[in-house]
Amino acid sequence: MNKPKTYHITTFGCQMNEHDSETIAGMLSQMGFCESPQRDEADVVIINTCSVRENADKRFFGTLGQLKKKKLADPEFTVCVCGCMMQQQHIIDSIKTKYPWVDIIFGTHNIHQFPQLLESVISEKEKIVDVWEDGGEIVEGLPAKRLYKHKAFVNIMYGCNNFCTYCIVPYTRGRERSRRPLDIIDEVKLLVADGVREVTLLGQNVNSYRGDEKTDFADLIYRLNEVEGLERIRFMTSHPKDLSDKLIQAYVDCNKLCNYIHLPVQSGSSPVLARMNRKYTKEDYLELIAKLRKAVPDITISTDIIVGFPGETEADFEETLDLVGRVRYDSAFTFLYSIRKGTPAEEYEDQIPEDVKHQRFNRLVETVNSISAEKNAAYVGKVEKVLVEGVSKTSAQRYTGRTEGFKLINFPGTPKLAGKIVDVKVTEGKTFSLEGEVL
Ligand code: 5AD
Ligand code: SF4
Repeated sequence: MNKPKTYHITTFGCQMNEHDSETIAGMLSQMGFCESPQRDEADVVIINTCSVRENADKRFFGTLGQLKKKKLADPEFTVCVCGCMMQQQHIIDSIKTKYPWVDIIFGTHNIHQFPQLLESVISEKEKIVDVWEDGGEIVEGLPAKRLYKHKAFVNIMYGCNNFCTYCIVPYTRGRERSRRPLDIIDEVKLLVADGVREVTLLGQNVNSYRGDEKTDFADLIYRLNEVEGLERIRFMTSHPKDLSDKLIQAYVDCNKLCNYIHLPVQSGSSPVLARMNRKYTKEDYLELIAKLRKAVPDITISTDIIVGFPGETEADFEETLDLVGRVRYDSAFTFLYSIRKGTPAEEYEDQIPEDVKHQRFNRLVETVNSISAEKNAAYVGKVEKVLVEGVSKTSAQRYTGRTEGFKLINFPGTPKLAGKIVDVKVTEGKTFSLEGEVL
């Protein structure tokens, strides 16, 4: 009997990419491939790339370099690359000239075609580059091999129309397209039937979702709140300019919508926000946070902040520190500004010297972390509902899960807890996580 062929996927970047990799894994399973935990032992390797994260290109090209030896030793070995980076012509050109052992290059808009591309490369032994400029009709019904048993990602929309001046996403993921509400609801029902208790609705800007005339993002949440057996709804990511009062009300009305929001602010300086094309001011943002907290007092809030955007003065940066001190985020992802080829900010002349960026970055991280630690310490003694994910990465005796507010919590447990929502009493608050005991 023939041994089944194996695959290995390396994923860089955000949850959208992780979910795209789940889809690719699902399609490969349907084709009869098995997953190989080791990249070196797989027959087919897929690298799903990101163009947003710092140094993502260096890491990607480094990984590609490592595959050369195996390809030379085994011409049947198939190397596939996909994801955001492939939507940029200069990247494709580099791969073709410097990494000729790549067999398939495909993009973010034609993931569904991967099985045909792979079959064709295996039978014809011809390299394929197939990258679409923009997305066509949304393809429904693709399989997914989930990373987690009890929680799932569900794409509700694709692309972004916002054109923040630093960001490559509108060029790599195309214009906004929303899935039909019924397609989403049916997918969630199937996931629930398969043991999923929590869904995270994914999109670059989920709150500009528009499924049909009657269904905006808040409406979708209300409808999903009715799905029997589903316990938790989260979403990622939302833009402050589209955060409606109706969505805030959904937090109050929908018991399954977790009291957590990731609301990227990017900067605390209104002039910098204007140059970033964010379409809100520091005051608008603070007002939104006040409204959210008034409606949902225990909401946890996280954000993204970019340090060293072109033209950022010391006074601008202090506005960011001031905003962080006022909002008191539960956690914040901090980014050093770096140029993305083809974005408007690439042309801005007043780029900030690296040493100044780093110095500001360190100051910001210190402020953010000390607030996170204080906020987490205030949880000690509280009882939190936790969806248990499984054994913690650091120790087999410890279990790990997320509170409703998306805080990571570790506690002693047993295998039968996996997938359950249990009460956990917080015993310690650390900077990035909590410790607790199951009640
Ligand atoms: N430089 C630094 N950070 C960036 N981000 C997006 N583009 C850039 C860039 N050019 C950050 C933003 C976004 C997060 C996913 O990545 O903060 O919200
Ligand atoms: Fe990029 Fe701005 Fe769109 Fe977010 S909203 S994906 S930062 S362009």
